[in-house]
Amino acid sequence: MPNETENWTREYYDDFGDVYETVWNEQVHTGKFENNEDLKIATERMNSFLADLVEVKPESEILNIGSGRGGADRFLAQKYSARIIGLDLSQKQINLARQRIPENESHNINYVQGSMTSLPFSKSNFDILWIQESFFHCTDKTQAMAEFKRVLKPGGKIIMEDTVLGSKEAELEVVEVFGKRVNVSKLLTAEEYETLAKQTGLVPIKKLDLTKNLEKTYQTIAEHIKKNFQEIRTKIPQKYQEKLVSYFGFPESERLAREGKLACYAFVFQKPANS
Ligand SMILES: C[S@@+](CC[C@H](N)C(=O)[O-])C[C@H]1O[C@@H](n2cnc3c(N)ncnc32)[C@H](O)[C@@H]1O
Repeated sequence: MPNETENWTREYYDDFGDVYETVWNEQVHTGKFENNEDLKIATERMNSFLADLVEVKPESEILNIGSGRGGADRFLAQKYSARIIGLDLSQKQINLARQRIPENESHNINYVQGSMTSLPFSKSNFDILWIQESFFHCTDKTQAMAEFKRVLKPGGKIIMEDTVLGSKEAELEVVEVFGKRVNVSKLLTAEEYETLAKQTGLVPIKKLDLTKNLEKTYQTIAEHIKKNFQEIRTKIPQKYQEKLVSYFGFPESERLAREGKLACYAFVFQKPANS
């Protein structure tokens, strides 16, 4: 049964997905910057970077958990001919992702509505779980990790890119700024992600700090919002107007990333071949 937070999150992405697409991108995740390029190019580069970390192959069966508008799914199908199932809480996000499947990829991409805390698959079917900027939303991370392990094939890998707490001391400040935008009252550090994975019986393989990229991503979004504030304001449903205070908190989140209080990491976890 979905809990109160999941209901809020589902409704939030139903209502807010279009706004994120305007101020961020159709892909709502950290960009991987090399220079001063466009955020769209940088978010696409992040997909390549993550795919390389888990060596995606043409025959890979991938479950994208929190697939949003399906940008990563199209990338993985087009670049690698991988087979992908996207899963998301928000039916509206799924409908949009479905509409955007390129005609020649319809056999490789499928969607299902559901939650990471109760994955609708009975078997260990997947070579790779792709979990990008969705795990931080989850209030029962222990249950979700157990679900991840259950649906992975033995030897299968998780690639996770997520916004995490940079330091325990900063938790209150981070929850007040970042947490307020996304209704999250507790965040874990990168070390706590690894501990949780180990406790679940998964093996941490890689942990890469992408915080500089998070800072640059927020800086780009904050500048865009400031420049286009009046127009963006008209697109926000009334009940979210209070989130507009301080431009959704993006300038403050940029500061938190610069100070290392809010961070972004990529992780690779593996299910042991004998489990
Ligand atoms: C920040 S967006 C990221 C979307 C996509 N991964 C991307 O990079 O563009 C977070 C997504 O995670 C989904 N989500 C949040 N909690 C979830 C849960 N418990 N189960 C499945 N999806 C969830 C939301 O509905 C939303 O589409």
